[in-house]
Amino acid sequence: DVADIGVTGMAVMGSNLARNFARNGFKVAIHNRSVGKTETVMDNYASEGEFYPSESMADFVASLQKPRVAIIMVKAGKPTDAVIDELASLMEEGDIIVDAGNALFGDTRRREAALREKGLHFVGSGVSGGEEGALNGPSIMPGGTKESYDRLGPMFEKISAHVDGVPCCTHVGADGAGHFVKMVHNGIEYADMQVISEAYDMMSKALGMGASEIGDVFAEWNKGDLESFLIEITAEVLHHTDQTSGKPFVDVILDRAAQKGTGAWTVQTALDLGVPVTGIAEATFARSTSGSTPQREAARGVLKGEAQTLEIADKAQFIDDLQKALYAAKLVSYSQGFDEIAAGAKEYGWDIDLGAMARIWRGGCIIRARFLNRITEAYERDANLPLLLADAYFTEEIAKCIPAWRRIVAFAAASGYPVPVFSSTLSYYDAVRAERLPAALVQAQRDYFGAHTYQRVDTEGTFHVEWTQDRRETKQD
Ligand code: 6PG
Repeated sequence: DVADIGVTGMAVMGSNLARNFARNGFKVAIHNRSVGKTETVMDNYASEGEFYPSESMADFVASLQKPRVAIIMVKAGKPTDAVIDELASLMEEGDIIVDAGNALFGDTRRREAALREKGLHFVGSGVSGGEEGALNGPSIMPGGTKESYDRLGPMFEKISAHVDGVPCCTHVGADGAGHFVKMVHNGIEYADMQVISEAYDMMSKALGMGASEIGDVFAEWNKGDLESFLIEITAEVLHHTDQTSGKPFVDVILDRAAQKGTGAWTVQTALDLGVPVTGIAEATFARSTSGSTPQREAARGVLKGEAQTLEIADKAQFIDDLQKALYAAKLVSYSQGFDEIAAGAKEYGWDIDLGAMARIWRGGCIIRARFLNRITEAYERDANLPLLLADAYFTEEIAKCIPAWRRIVAFAAASGYPVPVFSSTLSYYDAVRAERLPAALVQAQRDYFGAHTYQRVDTEGTFHVEWTQDRRETKQD
């Protein structure tokens, strides 16, 4: 019982996380269902710190200091449940089980409730940053009880990424809050990736630029407001030459983007909560469209385009427009994502500090970016900001982008280029700021065929029209 913390599941994420703890001076117990993986870690990395390998789960638990902290890093779903059950049967009151994989927050809530009954703490924790982040400093989003955070928080904060000396880790909120926030992080990640790809597509198709030249543009953008990990790696990917064919790497990749499910969870949850996350939803569906092989085969060369060929008089201006459109679309999808977190917090009773979420995403994670500081500042100005876009700073920022954003969406529509995130975020922007929406007509239609009632602009109350009779308006009680 000497180890400060334990990790079970020695695939790359788990072993990198264990190595990160060890490199930071913690005594780390490690375990894997098949012993080979544990041995590989010991063979290669034992010199990095103090590891305590165990062959059995019982020995693994026994090697932990009390109250014990065991991190599970195995596949989401059944494998996670199996490991939780095994760990729980060996642990004692006050011990902490952490699920650091991408679990659905509803599962985390269920598991937390079940373990609480047994006197154990269950912490669902988001960990972002991929393999590299797990090893060198991820962004960590732990849920669970305050008490469990008191025990594990200092260790997590130490191994997390740091920006300006501030750790990219904080207690998110009770039970499933950490996994909820990580889910939305991934949804935003999908939107960012898609809108970047739309900008690339426009440069490639409308301007006829080659991958490497487009890479130069992204490298340039990475010096301004758009500075972020995803823009940086985009430039790198576009500059990469395929070693087999000698062609630009991106040109030899099949245009089919896969997904493991976190984007879809974000959208499904948003639908349940009634929060419009249109940028994230379109990004998720864009991956589905790319993978709809039979449909694409049926449509290719068959569905007519009838596109206009528009002249681009000023290439530099067009690229500048794309940059602004990208920034505006990004602001909308972040605003929508934060709306979803706020709605989730309200629904599930979590006390989530939205500004702190932006703060812990500044480093370590996939969506790390310079502009996240601005989001933190916005919530510092008003913790109950009803809409991120309505913060004075963002209102001004987006205003500077609007003409460019409209030009890009109009150009894409006229030319026949798909830009689901550029266009859906602009539509949302125009809808949310609209004086009046056509929802009035939808509500009237609902009243017509289903007696679903409506409210009036000029007086209080709920009304219905007797559509099929004398069309008299009746007031409902
Ligand atoms: C992260 C990533 C990570 C993983 C996603 C990718 O934050 O480190 O989001 O969690 O790479 O699962 O998701 P898809 O496989 O669905 O693209």
